[in-house]
Amino acid sequence: MFWQPVYRSQDLPAGRAVPIRIMSEDFTLYRGEAGPHPEAEGTEGRAHLVAFRCAHRGAQLSTGWVEGDDLRCFYHGWKYDGSGSCIEQPAEPEPFCQRIKIRGYPVQEYLGLIFAYLGEGEPPPMRRFPDFERGFVIEPCELEDYPCNYFNRLDNASDGAHVAWTHRESLNRIAAAAGVPPRPPTAEVRISEETEYGLRSGTMHNGKPAFQTHLHMPNVNQPPSGSRGSLADGRTLLVDGLYFRVPVDDENSVSFTVDCVHLTGAEADDYRERRRMAQDTKTAALGELSAEILAGNKVVGDMPGDLSPFQMFWIEDYVAQCGQGAIADRSHEHLGRSDSGVVSIRQLWARELKALAEGRPLKQWHTPAGLADMIQATNR
Ligand code: FES
Ligand SMILES: [Fe+2]
Repeated sequence: MFWQPVYRSQDLPAGRAVPIRIMSEDFTLYRGEAGPHPEAEGTEGRAHLVAFRCAHRGAQLSTGWVEGDDLRCFYHGWKYDGSGSCIEQPAEPEPFCQRIKIRGYPVQEYLGLIFAYLGEGEPPPMRRFPDFERGFVIEPCELEDYPCNYFNRLDNASDGAHVAWTHRESLNRIAAAAGVPPRPPTAEVRISEETEYGLRSGTMHNGKPAFQTHLHMPNVNQPPSGSRGSLADGRTLLVDGLYFRVPVDDENSVSFTVDCVHLTGAEADDYRERRRMAQDTKTAALGELSAEILAGNKVVGDMPGDLSPFQMFWIEDYVAQCGQGAIADRSHEHLGRSDSGVVSIRQLWARELKALAEGRPLKQWHTPAGLADMIQATNR
């Protein structure tokens, strides 16, 4: 019932088709060839999402050929347009294309990601994030493919209490690099409140709420702005992040992270260039390192010193969340006051799923401008 990111725009060149798996279903994602054919006028090729298999005899469509804005099957050459309608059956003396249609899904590109609507009926309007439309640099990060259910990841969205421990090694390294002592973890009164977009969570600070994260219902996390800090010139960059936690299947999930870096003009161009050069990290390697820790062959402190804070957080969250089990057994948990954010997320989801099951209308969520500034202000 919600648009979800399914791929990074930069990873799908014009004229290319790929198989993808989202929410336990397989699909074919492809990008039409760049102009001059009329559908792609003025674009780099439009993205399309259709069924995984050909309607003829079930070949995997991603192995075929992109022709203009259409996709031709590898097996006997049937051709489909971006909506999934069959438009050619070259081996048939009397083609019956008009009777053949595979499923096609609405697709939009936004914030450097390809979003699809996989639900029934008319798609709802795309969720917009006004804080990420302010003209700053928008860059999607490396994907986080975790072998655990997406709810392990989502549960973590309002779990401020994990940061001091799960990210202890990272925080120590960041403090050491800055030449300051690490801040000791403390017990704090944790709070959450429901909003028009989902939930915001944080702590009480001098008798006032200090919010540290936003959850955009149903599955987008926005942590405090901060520096990604891995870039050569050592400047502290202000970065807002959005984390889309998307189910691949019951035991796997993928996170699409979008960075909004507060730079414009020549500084922005310079930053994009440096970031492009730095972007050769193999996230598969991060997954392997994380798996080594879970297997007991390494500890987090053994991780290479040249990993960026983003990569260290990647590994640390993997260890914590995949370590809960691919499908965590929540009936054995013992929740305390510090888990109030986790409880609030589960209650929101339970309420909305109950409404869905009973055929009642769901809450319509809306993300206003100014949320990034709200959590920056409390952390500066
Ligand atoms: S299986 Fe696709 S054309 Fe035959
Ligand atoms: Fe974390």
